[in-house]
Amino acid sequence: MTKTLGVGIIGCGNISTAYLDLASMFKGYEIVAVADINMDNANAQATKFDVRAETVEGLLAARDVDLIINLTIPAAHVEVSSAILKAGKHVYSEKPFVLSLAEAQELGELAKAKGVRIGSAPDTFMGGSHQLARNLIDAGTIGNVASGAAVVMSSGMEDWHPNPDFFFQKGGGPILDLGPYYICNLVQLLGPVKQVTSFTGMASDTRTIGNGPRNGETVPVETPTTIHSVLSFENGAIITLLASWDVVASNHPIMELYGTEGTMNLPDPNFFGGELTITERGADPVEKSWDHPFNVPNFEETKANYRGAGLADMALAIGEGRPHRCNDDFATHVVEVMTAILEAGETGTVMTMTTTCERPDVLGPDAARALLA
Ligand SMILES: NC(=O)c1ccc[n+]([C@@H]2O[C@H](COP(=O)([O-])OP(=O)(O)OC[C@H]3O[C@@H](n4cnc5c(N)ncnc54)[C@H](O)[C@@H]3O)[C@@H](O)[C@H]2O)c1
Repeated sequence: MTKTLGVGIIGCGNISTAYLDLASMFKGYEIVAVADINMDNANAQATKFDVRAETVEGLLAARDVDLIINLTIPAAHVEVSSAILKAGKHVYSEKPFVLSLAEAQELGELAKAKGVRIGSAPDTFMGGSHQLARNLIDAGTIGNVASGAAVVMSSGMEDWHPNPDFFFQKGGGPILDLGPYYICNLVQLLGPVKQVTSFTGMASDTRTIGNGPRNGETVPVETPTTIHSVLSFENGAIITLLASWDVVASNHPIMELYGTEGTMNLPDPNFFGGELTITERGADPVEKSWDHPFNVPNFEETKANYRGAGLADMALAIGEGRPHRCNDDFATHVVEVMTAILEAGETGTVMTMTTTCERPDVLGPDAARALLA
């Protein structure tokens, strides 16, 4: 029997509740303690979820903690993940893994030297609908995928997040914040990216917070909020990715892939489930489904949220001595793609990737059930 990993969290803000809430659903790990630079945040989550509150230093030294989840803001990811690895513990980071390829490679080297593993969200690509899409593409259902389009558009994050500053600072913006969901899913479906280019802009240089204690306060915008990019994949597919927080309303399909034998319409990769349709040559659109545990709606009536699946897969993979799906090479390649999209926009050039990765293993229904407690 594989060991249950003792897990700690650094960063007790907005998203920590989802991890603490959903942890009991999964095998392989148990959250035992939480920490934050702000002890009030750590104490509040510790009390609410009946775990131990620690200082960051205390958690890094804790003997019952094998792996730490990094839920700090993106600008702190590299520093906090580095401290976790230096403490000899595995790290699982929220997205974006880090903010540059150099940071990703530095952490990769450190993990190797310490003999520990790196994992990174998002794990939504392990959702039932996205895994069904992978299964159908691999089976040749829509033929050879030559092109596609993906859009992630909204009016911004300042309407719902009480402290939206980081979304508009360097390291934020829709490509680094939401791009991980889209790019991870495209890479798991199509394989690694070869080249990217883009144009970038912003509709406004300040944003006004629309909720919480800071309602009405303005925050500066220091990163592009509209990015039109093109990704050329090693397998020959060319995908347009449009990411913007300057859009009031849109009817664009979220993601479509165009194959020689048909078109696949995919659900939002920010979630685990959702509707998947295929239109084969000369036929009407057909909705596809399968019996996959990470498709079952479990919040807001229609949405599937299995955040923690990637962490469970990592925890079990450590015990079983196999690669985990949300792994270092995959996360590093996605960081290079995202940062190259932004650099291409700044410099008006085409960027060629220096990294590549294997597609993470398929997570079929039985493999997904094996992650559940
Ligand atoms: N909020 C969401 O819905 C959501 C969803 C998916 C992913 N994420 C990702 O999760 C991460 C956290 O997002 P959030 O919305 O919870 O942010 P947040 O601002 O609500 O919380 C961040 C927490 O980290 C703490 N922190 C910051 N720097 C630290 C440091 N150096 N050491 C220790 N603690 C530190 C802060 O005090 C705060 O409590 C981000 O990378 C974000 O992209 C958020």
